[in-house]
Amino acid sequence: MPVITFANTKGGAGKTTAVLLLATELARKGYRITILDADPQHWISRWHEISGHVANIQVIDFVTSASLPQHISENKHSTDYFIIDLPGARNPLLATAIGLSDHVLIPIQGCAMDARGGAQVLELLQYLDEKAGINIGHSVVLTRVNSMVTTRALQLVKALLNERNVPVLDTAIIERAAFRDIFDCGGTLHDMDPMRVSNLEKACENALCFAEEIIRKVPVKLPACARATGPLIRSAA
Ligand SMILES: Nc1ncnc2c1ncn2[C@@H]1O[C@H](COP(=O)(O)OP(=O)(O)O)[C@@H](O)[C@H]1O
Ligand SMILES: [Mg+2]
Repeated sequence: MPVITFANTKGGAGKTTAVLLLATELARKGYRITILDADPQHWISRWHEISGHVANIQVIDFVTSASLPQHISENKHSTDYFIIDLPGARNPLLATAIGLSDHVLIPIQGCAMDARGGAQVLELLQYLDEKAGINIGHSVVLTRVNSMVTTRALQLVKALLNERNVPVLDTAIIERAAFRDIFDCGGTLHDMDPMRVSNLEKACENALCFAEEIIRKVPVKLPACARATGPLIRSAA
């Protein structure tokens, strides 16, 4: 049950939106998701309240630095992915969540090159690696990218970050009305009316692509017993 944290000390970077897109797409694929809502604005918890039951998703609200480890240990047997939504400010939760994570995703607004909030998270990850030998997988995800931005321009931004040894996801999250509306409507992208929401199909495609890249990057670990029986099953066949 990998733990994935979305972190950027700047508000408005697109953390909460990316959390919801990833959670709903993974849940749709059948993974059991626990969202740990540590955002004082409680957007995810409010979304969950208006949505009613959403298959494969549970949301835990009022998560604090002290309660986080307990939430993970109490739910680990019923969860395939934990997804943590952090506040948009520097906070003791940041270090706790990062320390418990298998992968940290750092949303950075693709076009506004104000990446300071993301840089603070990258610095913390580097500090943990150099001073404590704790190496936590991480990637930047470009978010709120204008749909008019060309693939070439995006490649350029990715290349710039890669030059500085910052891994960047191939999939950028595009600025879409559907990604905003989902917080008002509740439910998932797939419950929305394509006649009312512009470019809904493209939004769905984008969210799916994002989730599939995360599944490849952070696969669910098989329980030890499943790993042990794998080769036995093959040799018996
Ligand atoms: N990909 C996107 N498309 C459209 N609107 C977005 C997108 N990402 C974020 N937003 C909007 O930007 C604002 C801030 O996003 P949010 O996800 O709450 O950021 P954070 O959690 O980092 O503070 C919200 O109003 C949200 O609806
Ligand atoms: Mg937020």
